Amino acid sequence: MKPVPHFLDIAPLRLELLERLIERGFFFKRIAREATGRLKSPLCMEKRLVLLFFEPSTRTRTSFSLAAKQLGFDLQQLEPGSMSLVKGEKLIENFLNLGKLGFDVAVVRHPSSGALHFLSRHIGVSLVNAGDGCHAHPSQALLDLMTIKERFGELKGLHVGIVGDVAKSRVARSDIHALRKFGATVSLIGPPHFVPDTLERPGVRVSHDLDGLIKGLDVLVMLRIQTERAAYDPLLSLSWYREAYAITLERFSSLPDHSIVLHPGPVSLGIEMDEEVLKLDRCLSYTQVENGVFARMAVLEWAMEGRGRCC
Ligand code: CP
Repeated sequence: MKPVPHFLDIAPLRLELLERLIERGFFFKRIAREATGRLKSPLCMEKRLVLLFFEPSTRTRTSFSLAAKQLGFDLQQLEPGSMSLVKGEKLIENFLNLGKLGFDVAVVRHPSSGALHFLSRHIGVSLVNAGDGCHAHPSQALLDLMTIKERFGELKGLHVGIVGDVAKSRVARSDIHALRKFGATVSLIGPPHFVPDTLERPGVRVSHDLDGLIKGLDVLVMLRIQTERAAYDPLLSLSWYREAYAITLERFSSLPDHSIVLHPGPVSLGIEMDEEVLKLDRCLSYTQVENGVFARMAVLEWAMEGRGRCC
């Protein structure tokens, strides 16, 4: 099997590559704004890309689809429910067949952590991780880096608070790797069962006290409670969680004036974030969505460029 590049996780990527992908994302954003129609990449034209989402998605799926079309890929979207998996075919067998059908890239979201790493050892199609279980969501981290860099210019020295169910969050896991590579300090904030002390490491602190930290944060990343991944203790009432950790207008007013709020979406309004906060200029949730298309264009183009080098 010929080696092909995969975009599975932030952790093994070099800082220089992340910097290059971010700059390429900004390049695509500039070109799109200038409407010069130069978005199509010769590396991607006519190449075959398949989107395969085994979990629901609005932002990631649509932005990968837009990114692929703008780069000139021949795009196919498959629905797992209408594939032979439902007849008992194994996942690996499905992907081996997709390889034989001539696909160059597969963008995959899967509920099992590590599913793409497993597939990558067996197939010759470049895999792009669109989120695997609680493990990683590397393109989300890339667009988060773009959004923060766009506002602050530099990531080094920033203090980023990530609030919520960090233990089960693939977004948090990828953001932590990405932010640390750029020299930001990260505080993981939430109740102990969402943010256990075992998550602490150099440059990454654990705190259960959002109000105690909020005045020192440059960036606040809010996470959704992922009720689909765990049966939550009914004694942990959402009203209690909201009281201690939600970003309300009152809590927002405690942030420094220069700070920003991010949320990867989907937002559970009234639980971790109030609608009034979502509408504020310093809440960049919709900017993240916009940047997602350009960050994902950079990733898909890189995957094709790498194929040329590898093969
Ligand atoms: N942020 C994110 O992954 O959103 P979707 O689940 O809508 O893709």
